[in-house]
Amino acid sequence: MTRKVSRVLLDLDEVPKNYVNILPHLKEPLAPPLNPGTREPIDPDALMAIFAVECVKQEMTMEKTVPIPDEVREAYMRYGRPTPLQRALGLEDALNTPARIYYKREDASPTGSHKLNTAIAQAYYARNEGVTRLATETGAGQWGSAVALSCAHFGLKAMVYMVRVSLEQKGYRGTMMRSYGAEIVPSPSDRTEFGKRIKAERPDHPGTLGIAISEALEDTVNNEDTKYTIGSVLNHVLLHQSVIGQETIVQLEKDDAMPDAIIGCVGGGSNFAGIAYPFMADGRYASTEFIGVEPTACPSMTKGPYKYDFGDTAGMTPMIKMHSLGKDFTPPPIHAGGLRYHGVAPTISALLNEGRIRAIAYDQIPVLESALVFAKAEGVMPAPESAHAIKAAIDAARDAKKAGEERIIVFNLSGHGHFDMGAYAALMDGVLATEAATTVVEQETKIEQSA
Ligand SMILES: Cc1ncc(COP(=O)(O)O)c(C=O)c1O
Repeated sequence: MTRKVSRVLLDLDEVPKNYVNILPHLKEPLAPPLNPGTREPIDPDALMAIFAVECVKQEMTMEKTVPIPDEVREAYMRYGRPTPLQRALGLEDALNTPARIYYKREDASPTGSHKLNTAIAQAYYARNEGVTRLATETGAGQWGSAVALSCAHFGLKAMVYMVRVSLEQKGYRGTMMRSYGAEIVPSPSDRTEFGKRIKAERPDHPGTLGIAISEALEDTVNNEDTKYTIGSVLNHVLLHQSVIGQETIVQLEKDDAMPDAIIGCVGGGSNFAGIAYPFMADGRYASTEFIGVEPTACPSMTKGPYKYDFGDTAGMTPMIKMHSLGKDFTPPPIHAGGLRYHGVAPTISALLNEGRIRAIAYDQIPVLESALVFAKAEGVMPAPESAHAIKAAIDAARDAKKAGEERIIVFNLSGHGHFDMGAYAALMDGVLATEAATTVVEQETKIEQSA
């Protein structure tokens, strides 16, 4: 691609036909999820009562690739895949850097983020298995919107528990989900026993993803027609997101670009894994650096111990081995609501430990300032979550300038920020708070020693 052309596009038939699985590429087998009662590896049947059966199979498969069903591929095409890879010419000029910066446009999906890639797949598998209703949680609202649209597409009902502070920050996300036909409540809610308990203890609780997951799980086990669907962390979710990186590989090849760095923001880890894992699974990219970026308010990768923990706050999920701040950790209500999760995907945790991923944490003020540099230069308003990746990309481009090297930097623009204007207004009006000092809340579990 010449300097004048800013987008690398793909044809519809270049939408990937398979998902890429990272599990066979780990140095050591992933520690299995444990039954919290017995501390033994969980029986897959227990998971199949909650998740679509096909998703549980994918959770454990050691196949290098998993075929994408035609109906799922068709839905991907209808809702914007393949997404463009964009050369950030405006940003390169603004930074006066010799680096070439590219960003993958996951903001191009109608719901506004990468989350649709797995929501479509999970709704498809559930529908095929006779399920009629899906329950889920959402932080920033991107995941809930993706589930709502996917359920509408496959004729399912959707029930969404949205973290209260996020719903207050972005009420129109709720309106979007309702427009697609979903039912939505702020979490903690009065719809579940766990929600009622949390509200009784602390009526003004801002909510967390961990609490909302507990509520969605309680809803699932109490309703026979319902399965649970999750937007991040688990292996099958990250597997579905591998369409992002596979497309990016082809697009960079078309532009004769060998990446030096692949960057993504990390909440539970799905968009970062989506862009990074196909490169990591491909020996040609052995010298590429993979950088995951999180908020200092919720520093699971940079400060969370690597241990067995629950995925939710009530302790209803199996225990999974991951970098975690503890299931009771309540991060301050930062604007990147999608990054307020106490843990991080087991595969990302394993790859951090292998030294194949570098983790960075930033405060929300420099993050949103970087987002405005990007918005002015590129015209695109990023989600505050994605802005973490932008900050790291800008720092890498400045390093390239200091070194006088034409480095190739690629980041995932995981979503747009059209519902996040309150965050940008607060920054520009000088009233945005820095992230409060965070405390790591250790949970009461002795599993670490015994596992
Ligand atoms: C735009 C956007 N990016 C990133 C994330 C973080 O999730 P994950 O780490 O699974 O990509 C979210 C979660 O809600 C999101 O909405």
